[in-house]
Amino acid sequence: MAKIITILGIESSCDDTAAAVVQLTSETEVNILSSKIFGQKELHKKFGGVVPEIAARAHTEKLDYVIEDALEEAKLNLNNIDAIAVTAGPGLIGGVMSGVMYAKGLSVGSKKPLIGINHLAGHALTPRLTNQIEFPYLMLLISGGHCQFLLVHGPTKFIRIGASIDDAPGEAFDKVARLISLPQPGGPSIEASAKSGNSKRFNFPRPLIGRDGCNMSFSGLKTSVLRTRDNLIQEQGGLYSIDQSDISASFQEAISEILIKKTTVALEMYLEINPNCPTFSVAGGVASNGLIRDNLKKLTETFGVNFIAPPIELCTDNAAMIAWAGIEYYRLGIRDDMSLGARPRWPLDESAPALIGYGKKGRKA
Ligand code: KG4
Ligand code: ZN
Repeated sequence: MAKIITILGIESSCDDTAAAVVQLTSETEVNILSSKIFGQKELHKKFGGVVPEIAARAHTEKLDYVIEDALEEAKLNLNNIDAIAVTAGPGLIGGVMSGVMYAKGLSVGSKKPLIGINHLAGHALTPRLTNQIEFPYLMLLISGGHCQFLLVHGPTKFIRIGASIDDAPGEAFDKVARLISLPQPGGPSIEASAKSGNSKRFNFPRPLIGRDGCNMSFSGLKTSVLRTRDNLIQEQGGLYSIDQSDISASFQEAISEILIKKTTVALEMYLEINPNCPTFSVAGGVASNGLIRDNLKKLTETFGVNFIAPPIELCTDNAAMIAWAGIEYYRLGIRDDMSLGARPRWPLDESAPALIGYGKKGRKA
């Protein structure tokens, strides 16, 4: 029987202060004993986006409580865990530093090993936490700061086969929401507004869709929405709620179509290397979008590929994914020491060429 492994995970790379305890009890059984999040949305609301200094200060204030809460709910203390896994990047430098410094202190104080985790690896390994899937699988990571197709060959082996060359889709959702006066974060408010909208009213662009490969582009969409909004205001003297809904529905449709077209290309590339038992998974905040999830599911079914979308609370930022990545690394004997630093930029596939652009967490990987 495999050794039971219990890891405390800490996440503070953007605007959520999170801690979780995850336990592996056998090769096939994993339990999330606790997953606590202190969200900072209210603190940033009036600024229309995440303010890095406010985020960093809130993380330092809240880490204590969130970690204590997570241990308490798991009915454990630091003596009962095997290691402390912490997000060491990429992300907002102040937030990542808060988490890393805190985890170092805990590690020294408790004499438990420290493991630095790439936040993107946390997202990309989540389908193994929820469904114990085998490598290699194809992952579409779509969040507020990232957008990439990854061939996941192992806990530390990721090959990026495509990415956004400009905005991440979540960033596009957030910017478009701001343009049409919907609240932040933009994804959920656009999805809600789109429910009563006509997705055929506006034909927003689908950049790069006819090009080879699976790189994507989303920045042209917000410019087009801006023009549409300004025209409507000029013609009608204002923007009405029906306009908000129709723009939301048409925009969501455009994002979904770009993702579907490029996932088709990515699936073809992936199936060449893994025609047996293929699995596709989507993760990151944008993976909570119902239309995108449904369309990706339908697409993978036509390819006969197994589709996995983690539950929404494990798609958006959380610490359970960091604790799980910690379990994967712990099993491989990976440990860090006090030289662990915060890396605001940390691509998962270091060999992939850099792409232009900055997300809300800094330069995109
Ligand atoms: O993964 P995440 O929690 O944080 C990052 O690592 O960025 O993703 C947050 C992003 C935000 O841009 C938010 O607008 C978007 O995910 N998002 C959504 C939805 N829920 C969150 N986008 C589209 N539809 C949603 N339902
Ligand atoms: Zn994330």
